[in-house]
Amino acid sequence: MEFSIKSGSPEKQRTGCVVVGVYEGRKLSASAQGIDAASGQYLSEVLRRGDLEGALGKTLLLHGVPKIPADRVLLVGLGRERDFNEPAYRTALSAAAKAMKGTGATDAVVCLTDLTLKRHDTSWKVEHAVLTIMEAGYRFDRLKSKPAEPKRTLRKVTLHVARRSEIEPGETALDRGVAIAEGIALAKDLGNLPGNHCTPTYLAEQAVDLGKRHGMKVDILEQKDCEKLGMGCYLAVARGSKQPPKFIVMEYHGGKRDEPPVVLVGKGITFDTGGISIKPAAEMDEMKFDMCGAASVFGTLKAAALMKLPMNVIGVIPATENMPGGNAIKPGDIVTTMSGQTVEILNTDAEGRLVLCDALTYVEKYKPAAVVDIATLTGAMVIALGHVATGLFSNSDSLARELIQAGETGWDRGWHMPLWDDYQEALKSNFADMPNIGSRAGGSITAACFLSRYTKAYPWAHLDIAGTAWKSGAEKGATGRPVAMLAHFLLRRAA
Ligand code: BES
Ligand code: MN
Ligand code: ZN
Repeated sequence: MEFSIKSGSPEKQRTGCVVVGVYEGRKLSASAQGIDAASGQYLSEVLRRGDLEGALGKTLLLHGVPKIPADRVLLVGLGRERDFNEPAYRTALSAAAKAMKGTGATDAVVCLTDLTLKRHDTSWKVEHAVLTIMEAGYRFDRLKSKPAEPKRTLRKVTLHVARRSEIEPGETALDRGVAIAEGIALAKDLGNLPGNHCTPTYLAEQAVDLGKRHGMKVDILEQKDCEKLGMGCYLAVARGSKQPPKFIVMEYHGGKRDEPPVVLVGKGITFDTGGISIKPAAEMDEMKFDMCGAASVFGTLKAAALMKLPMNVIGVIPATENMPGGNAIKPGDIVTTMSGQTVEILNTDAEGRLVLCDALTYVEKYKPAAVVDIATLTGAMVIALGHVATGLFSNSDSLARELIQAGETGWDRGWHMPLWDDYQEALKSNFADMPNIGSRAGGSITAACFLSRYTKAYPWAHLDIAGTAWKSGAEKGATGRPVAMLAHFLLRRAA
């Protein structure tokens, strides 16, 4: 998809489709008024017949609007004018994008970016228009024998702004939006790819490829390299699998050589069966998404590189399958982590923290400015926050605030969860330094507590994306979250 910015009269646009908004009560937006006037009140006439009241997300496609050079005019309901807020804006945009999907229009001028939106400037509106339109156009059909894609699809989108002076900031926002949207699309693609395709080896190849395209240094540590480093906990998880583990390190150097980097660590379980503590069969297919943390690291690095952020960012991904097998770890097994601490593995299904702890120790060598891990870590997170907010845990309140704020800006929200010492009580073992599970109560917090024992050397935050990384049901698929949050976190740090 190609995007551009334009100001100028909506009624003069030569395009496949011009998109304008209508508030509830059949109140035309400014751009719609322009078209209405030029067409001899054609829009008002149509609305008077009752075909569109202006309810949020309802659309009406018009052909042959008199004296208008555009092939089509798409009217989009915006809801009540005084309630027109961020979610309403996004709903209207995505309704517009979906309505255009079924038409023959290959290009469009979208006049929703020129609407007044409380507390938000052109930059915000443009960025989110790009994200929403890309989201609506996303499909994953590379594994269908015949792609479902209709022959004609929207290829060029021009975003309309009210004034010429808004073109320049609009263009900057547009580049940012495209970079983040590309990062999100990459994260979705990797997440959606099933476990038989998306193996640790495949992820490693993708990392090398991303590195080549964007001038990043990529290192793949093999099993024997990890053995030498003493990553006993990560390798314990990998034992049950026929697929070799790959410990992936990607380095984006956009800042000064000696500038401490931000490190992103992504859980890369390419399939989580639970291991010997095997999961029930229902919905187990969704455990192909257990590498969505890793996918978000790929996506964020791609976005950072496209935005040419003047900072250093390291991405680290401990990738492996979690499988049962003759060589697999068993409940009760005790392993030694890279940090020297020992872990009693009471449940092989709590494998995410086992691969992350060694990765979190490994990254100490970078003397990071901050470390953020991203993981589909606990089912309990879904119970706590549902599918709306990502759970955020941190040993630094200021880092937590930065990420929460970035989530607000990127419309990819997180919620600050507690990490008080009281919760550490749950992690006691009779035989090792700690078990890998606590009690069922507060499961996401005790998981974070486990990780906190490996992150004392730097400011650290943990994002539990178990509820936000993918959707189930009819719309099953990866969401690309929290790439938008992380991209905005980096943007602010780079500024
Ligand atoms: N990948 C899962 C977490 C998960 C489960 C995410 C369902 C989204 C939906 C993780 O590896 C896991 O199995 N966690 C266990 C931990 C438990 C054994 C302490 C869980 O949450 O049940
Ligand atoms: Mn598991
Ligand atoms: Zn898992």
